[in-house]
Amino acid sequence: MLNVALPKGRLGEKVYDMFEKAGYECPSIREKNRKLLFTNEEKGICYFWVKPSDVAIYVERGAADIGVAGKDILLEYEPEVYELLDLDIGKCMMAVAAPNGYIDRPQRTLRVATKFERIAAGYYASIGRDIDIIHLNGSIEIAPIVGLSDVIVDIVETGSTLRENNLAVYETIFPISARLIANKSSHKFKNEAISRLVREIAGGRT
Ligand code: PRP
Repeated sequence: MLNVALPKGRLGEKVYDMFEKAGYECPSIREKNRKLLFTNEEKGICYFWVKPSDVAIYVERGAADIGVAGKDILLEYEPEVYELLDLDIGKCMMAVAAPNGYIDRPQRTLRVATKFERIAAGYYASIGRDIDIIHLNGSIEIAPIVGLSDVIVDIVETGSTLRENNLAVYETIFPISARLIANKSSHKFKNEAISRLVREIAGGRT
C-alpha cells in the first residue's frame, strides 16, 4: 500500500487527476463530503488531504510514502525528503513586491514582511542587504500598505492580489511548481512501487 499526502484545494485536485490518469484511481475521493482519507485496496493506494504546507511533514516522517509539495515549501522548510519529479503544475513565483512607485533606499535596513523567512533571509544575504524580517502568517500584502513593512516576499500567481492592493512585483526570486516528493526509507523499501508510479505519472503528462 502506498500512502499519498495530497495538498487540499485546487492544486490537490489537479494532482489527483494526474494520479488517476496514471492508473491510480480511487473513485470515492470525488464524492462531495468532508472525509480526508480514501483507500483503493485493489490499486494498493491510500490518499489523504492535508494542508499544502504540511505535506512535506507527513512525507518526511513517513506517515505518507509520497506527496506533492510546492518548491516554495521545500526551499523554506528543507525537509529531509527526495524530490522525484517536477509535475509542471501549480506554477507561480516567489517575488519581492512593494507599493506602486516604491523607491528603495539601499543604505537603510529594509523591513520585509513574509511567511517565508528562510527564503527571504537567503535572498537578501545573497545580495548583501541588511533586512529586518517581520514574520506574518497570511494576508502579507497588507503589511506595506499600513506601514508595517517596506516590501513583502510572497507568492505571486495571477498577480491579482498585488494589483487589487496597489502593489507591484519589484524583483522576482525564483519560479515555483509542484514537486512529487518521497520519504527516504519508503523510497528504499517500496522502490518498485514508487518507481513505477513516477514512470506512469511522468509518461501520462506528455
Ligand atoms: C497566496 C499568496 C498571495 C496570493 C497570490 O495567498 O500569499 O496572497 O496567493 O495569488 P495571486 O497572484 O493569484 O493573487 P493564499 O491564497 O495562499 O493566502 P494567504 O493570504 O493565507 O497567504
